[in-house]
Amino acid sequence: MDFPVLMNDRILRAARGEEVDRIPVWIMRQAGRYLPEFRELRSRYDFFTICRTPKLACEVTLQPINRFDLDAAIIFSDILVIVQALGMIVEMQPSVGPVIPDPLKEPVDLDKLNQCVDVAQELGYVFEAISLTRHTLNGKVPLIGFTGAPWTLMCYMIEGGGSKTMSKAKKWLYKYPEESKKLLQILEDIIVKYLVEQVKAGAQMLQVFESNAEYLNLELFNKFSGPYLSSICSRVKNELNEKSVPMVVFAKGGHYALKQLSKFRYDIIGLDWTIDPVEAREIVGKNITLQGNLDPCVLYAHPERIKEMVKEMKSKFTKSRYIANLGHGIYPDVDPQHLEVLINAVHDS
Ligand code: CP3
Repeated sequence: MDFPVLMNDRILRAARGEEVDRIPVWIMRQAGRYLPEFRELRSRYDFFTICRTPKLACEVTLQPINRFDLDAAIIFSDILVIVQALGMIVEMQPSVGPVIPDPLKEPVDLDKLNQCVDVAQELGYVFEAISLTRHTLNGKVPLIGFTGAPWTLMCYMIEGGGSKTMSKAKKWLYKYPEESKKLLQILEDIIVKYLVEQVKAGAQMLQVFESNAEYLNLELFNKFSGPYLSSICSRVKNELNEKSVPMVVFAKGGHYALKQLSKFRYDIIGLDWTIDPVEAREIVGKNITLQGNLDPCVLYAHPERIKEMVKEMKSKFTKSRYIANLGHGIYPDVDPQHLEVLINAVHDS
């Protein structure tokens, strides 16, 4: 496929450890409810209708790009589209979040899953959205694709939505370890195909969200998260070969596993705000790019305070091998002008 020439490659340069003229920045959930233009479109369409309609997904992806001086776009979608492809119903309920009315309860429920998913067929709308968005971006910034990681998706499939404790999903890890691994393997296999197809459709970087790493400890991570994260990265890179793109792993609350994460083949490790950048750098070494990690709540502060916090963050990460971001997604009640202050403060030298 022929795509427009890329004009801003700062993120890709930072991912490869090359010098940059200024620190690149993108924001998790940068297309979302804090933007009035998103809320307007969202009032007219159901969440998953936007995800499934390439023209709408493209429009929403571009909203923050048209407003701010960001260094990447991230395709508008959700990690739960994979759960839908496996045959489960997922609804997005206003002020509740995702709800899966008929979650997995016991290992026999695995038989209900559509285990031979035709990824091109079931998730083709994501690939179409990626190609359309890459063309429409016209080379302005790179386009990021993403997926949820197996453990995080398993949590939703068993909990049926968000949870404070993840006790139902963790019960599987302790009570049904072999069946848990079977489910995680099913997820790994579909995720690998999903990411490879995203790159073929035009994604220029990939992020794997292990948002529920915080519920594990090192022992559980080493059994039920790490091996799948590692294998996903290696398999995607091997399949794509010279067409490979930089890959980010973001294990929220997973700094107990930073050393392990740094041994996988990811180019970039995303950090949440609970770890000090200097400490993270010491653990991962010089050859990995770090991404993060401002507390999303800093955006509630006065602009002068935001600038100070960004300055401090930049001095701790330094300009080399660094991509600025929040430590988790931006909240819906943030003032978009405060995000602009953050972005400009990252770019200012
Ligand atoms: O970053 C981007 O701009 C791309 C879009 C994106 C969304 N979800 C859109 C979205 C991305 C990268 C995601 C990933 C995602 N989805 C994750 C991993 C990141 C993280 O937050 O840890 C998770 C856990 C989900 C599942 C999910 N989707 C939850 C828990 C929620 C509810 C919380 C919330 O913010 O409402 C969603 C809904 C969702 N995904 C919204 C958006 C813009 C808001 C829903 C709406 O418009 O009603």
